[in-house]
Amino acid sequence: MMKNERIDRRRFIRNTSSVMFTGAILPVLPTDMAKSESKEDSFGFLTLPYLQNLNHDMVVVMFIINSNAHSWVEFGENGFDNIACSSRDGLVDADIRLNKMILKNLKPETTYFYRVVSKQILSFDPYDLKYGEKITSEAFSFTTPKKDSGSVSCVILNDIHDRPDSFYDLFGLAEQLKFDFVVLNGDMFDYQTDERQIIDHLLVPCTNLFATETPFLMIRGNHETRGKYARQLKGYFTYPDHDEYYFSFRQGPVHFIVLDSGEDKEDEHPEYGGIVNFDEFREEQARWLENEVSKSEFSDCKYKVVIMHIPPFYSGNGHGTMHCRKLFHPVFERHNIAMVISGHTHAYGIHPPTTEHSYPIIIGGGPQKGNRTLIHLKANFENLETEMIKDDGSIIGRYTV
Ligand SMILES: [Fe+2]
Repeated sequence: MMKNERIDRRRFIRNTSSVMFTGAILPVLPTDMAKSESKEDSFGFLTLPYLQNLNHDMVVVMFIINSNAHSWVEFGENGFDNIACSSRDGLVDADIRLNKMILKNLKPETTYFYRVVSKQILSFDPYDLKYGEKITSEAFSFTTPKKDSGSVSCVILNDIHDRPDSFYDLFGLAEQLKFDFVVLNGDMFDYQTDERQIIDHLLVPCTNLFATETPFLMIRGNHETRGKYARQLKGYFTYPDHDEYYFSFRQGPVHFIVLDSGEDKEDEHPEYGGIVNFDEFREEQARWLENEVSKSEFSDCKYKVVIMHIPPFYSGNGHGTMHCRKLFHPVFERHNIAMVISGHTHAYGIHPPTTEHSYPIIIGGGPQKGNRTLIHLKANFENLETEMIKDDGSIIGRYTV
């Protein structure tokens, strides 16, 4: 059954790629305008569902539709007998296009099948809610990890810079690799323009390649802070715990710490037009980090891995780099950080510990062909290993802790 599901899904993706995802998408509309301005287009999904925050007992399913609707997820081990939809304060999150559904109380190490359903809302008058067409996606599946697993693996990409084809090229290298999740380590875009850019340049390639079945983390780089749609970006993703761009989580023997390194220049730089405040944001993260490393779940974990877009070294002496170094590097030194994984410089490299930093710094490359990389991290209780693969398939190097 699993094999057939996979075959059907690939066929579905090919079909939808040619029909739904190449130019037939609606212009980007604010949520409240979408309904009225999309009447000529048939009601439909703008993305396949994508997974976020998959744990042993829960997962978040997200998807976008082209018109306001009431949506839900149907899921189960053998059928679709469970329903999940999101609600707040007693109200279901309806009459929206961007959907975020939490599937709770899942069993560990279990494969679930799921599909998403949307019922268009044609009019929303008091005591008179009129529904239109109902659409249902194809079936997909995901498998929850083992609770307290002894191993973890992931692949890490960075600095794609609005080149959706790079996802296909780099994931072509990952076909033989095992990975529990994918990390997008910043600068997936040059700057944020609108929803359509997020869909076409990130969600379409990611869902076609892996994200319907394997979750990903979208870590912000300095380029995601730019552009008129930067303030809407966070809503398209799900972050663990406190819905911030900085967070931590444990998977297998690794405690991952994700930091948002912010912009690379001073907040006062004319490029930012007087509307950024990254010094304060990094200081807020430094306080959070000090608290985080004081917790027993951090100190008890075998490996501590930091993922941040701008590396604290090997990235010039611009303000962003130096502020990260000043705030975060002393904490890394004091708390036995096993590895820092970054991007930003567009110059890939594996930098072993030196007298300046006691931890290795792994920097992925990009965005030009010949300079793009995929980092594969895997860890068990014996070792933590990263391998960096260049886009021609050659292995740039490995680092083992
Ligand atoms: Fe960058």
